[in-house]
Amino acid sequence: MIDFGVGSITSQMDIDSKPNHIAIIMDGNGRWAKNKSLPRVAGHRAGVKTLRKLIEHAVRIDLSTLTAYAFSRENWQRPKKEVDLLMDLFMTALQSEVKDLHENNVCLKFIGDKAAFSDKLQETIVQSEALTSTNSGLNLNIAANYSGRWDITQATQAIATEIALGNLNAEDVNESLVNSKVCLTENNDPDLFIRTGGERRISNYFLWQLAYTELYFTDILWPDFVPEELDKAIEWFASRQRRFGKTSEQIDESKN
Ligand code: IPE
Ligand code: IPE
Ligand code: MG
Repeated sequence: MIDFGVGSITSQMDIDSKPNHIAIIMDGNGRWAKNKSLPRVAGHRAGVKTLRKLIEHAVRIDLSTLTAYAFSRENWQRPKKEVDLLMDLFMTALQSEVKDLHENNVCLKFIGDKAAFSDKLQETIVQSEALTSTNSGLNLNIAANYSGRWDITQATQAIATEIALGNLNAEDVNESLVNSKVCLTENNDPDLFIRTGGERRISNYFLWQLAYTELYFTDILWPDFVPEELDKAIEWFASRQRRFGKTSEQIDESKN
């Protein structure tokens, strides 16, 4: 699957200016299809191909973690026909790609409330995660039936349960504890967020984890988001000064 090309833009960059973790909202499949007078599902199929190419590119440029939003909890509200087609597409894409992902040392994880999926899809997810769990290359997270508010709520529930059981006191609840209960604890917060499709919103993607993430929005519809567009976003990221509340002078000084 992976075409190991050379000369990527990121290989020339200062190591500090490269994002370790990129989180993407893959938006615009429906409009892409509409522009071509095709059914929406054709846009979703094209979107899967785009994701595949992007994963190849992420491996090529040695990205540590890529997290892609495939289906939000709110997306269940779409017409049943579209939801069913999306579920079929997840299943076929997973079945056809997992071997290649494994051969390319990709560690695959799903983020979100998996209990809502069919037994068969849940089983395929568990098997795919198990197959790739010890791989040390790209960490690929697929956010499916995910929502940022759900994530914070499930973390709160886990903490409340520990308090109720007497394992924890309310005073022990702090940011690092909450951080350990929300999704992505092992992969850390995203450095760069990318949303395709022209909307300037978060749409219930990571709410806690995006606190200091650099936000990049592009009008390009997801199926047209070629690897060079990822390079552009990474280049833009390199031009940002991340201050985390400090002054730019403090940041400059710490680099000297
Ligand atoms: C994103 O594309 C894919 C999913 C939400 C599953 P959309 O289907 O939202 O495409 P637009 O926004 O309608 O163009
Ligand atoms: C966000 O896209 C979710 C995914 C891409 C999976 P939506 O298309 O669902 O977002 P809204 O409804 O335009 O905010
Ligand atoms: Mg959309």
